[in-house]
Amino acid sequence: MRTIRYHSYGNPDVLTVEEVPVPSPGPGQVLIRSEAIGVNFVETQRRRGTGPFPPPLPATPNGDVVGIVEEVGAGVTTVAVGDRVAAPVMGGAYADLVLADATFLAPLPDGIDAAQASILASPAQTALCVLKTARIQPGDTVLVHAAAGAIGHLMTQLVRHYGAGRVIGTVGSPAKADFAREHGTDVVVDYSTDGWTDEVLKATDGEGVDVILDSVGGDILLAGLDVLKPFGRLVFYGASGGTLPQVPAMRLIPMKHVVGCGLDQWWQHRPDDIRSGLQELIGHVTEGRLKVHVHAELPLAEAADAHRIIEDRAQLGRILLRP
Ligand SMILES: NC(=O)c1ccc[n+]([C@@H]2O[C@H](COP(=O)([O-])OP(=O)(O)OC[C@H]3O[C@@H](n4cnc5c(N)ncnc54)[C@H](OP(=O)(O)O)[C@@H]3O)[C@@H](O)[C@H]2O)c1
Repeated sequence: MRTIRYHSYGNPDVLTVEEVPVPSPGPGQVLIRSEAIGVNFVETQRRRGTGPFPPPLPATPNGDVVGIVEEVGAGVTTVAVGDRVAAPVMGGAYADLVLADATFLAPLPDGIDAAQASILASPAQTALCVLKTARIQPGDTVLVHAAAGAIGHLMTQLVRHYGAGRVIGTVGSPAKADFAREHGTDVVVDYSTDGWTDEVLKATDGEGVDVILDSVGGDILLAGLDVLKPFGRLVFYGASGGTLPQVPAMRLIPMKHVVGCGLDQWWQHRPDDIRSGLQELIGHVTEGRLKVHVHAELPLAEAADAHRIIEDRAQLGRILLRP
């Protein structure tokens, strides 16, 4: 079978196609034949070795795999050979066949397409955990950073369902503004320009926002504190800007709450919430409240191009690889 591997950190060219033996599932694992693989931004940081968790080498990127179970390991009772599933796959997702932990498999409703199924593996779950962490109150004004991104465009669709009144979305270039509006953003602000926080204040009659959902970090997070109302909540869940923010504690005295959110922690400590959240998400998908926009579908062997698109900050929504 084919897998995509890199033996050194670097630019997308380090991703190469290799032939490897089909792996066997260990206890608690399943072997899945991939139908589609969702490509996540954080893998570009890991590939460069610059992210918070650079992988040991050689490495195959993680990703959101949709496919059919071909084999189950010892002790797996929740799925059977032939079932169609979506799975967050760690250490080996860009491949024809992948191993996944059976605990994390998302059940799939009949007829769901591969793109919609792929968001159930991790991006929609991340969005939901972030929204629940934010404890949005009815009518809150919510600022969603990177609103045209894979998770961002899911977040802007879901946020009103979880209480938001007004949704302000940031994007890194004017070309993304219409897309963000089409996916639930009321006001779009380009945070690559100086004075983006003034735009947010203008849009809120000088009051600021109740909630910020921040996947960018760095200076964007610090500037966001200027437009967060007293008693407001900022949820930090990613550092796509490349810099981990250092928040001076004094900036929090005006009753500003900053809280982190990691999907893995929800899985570890709140698995029941995750399972019920998955049912909520399946409802949103099947009833048409949550749609995924696929920016590009590329053959598995063109994984490097998928990473290039993401590093050029060109993607609207999500990118899929097709084995
Ligand atoms: N906490 C968790 O459990 C968890 C789980 C999954 C993902 N995440 C995080 O969630 C975030 C979104 O993930 P995603 O896969 O949906 O990615 P994405 O939003 O599709 O892509 C990242 C976006 O970040 C923005 N960005 C801002 N500064 C950037 C820079 N210097 N370089 C590149 N991009 C920059 C870009 O949008 P603009 O061009 O519009 O600025 C880009 O499209 C990532 O930070 C990821 O690490 C967290």
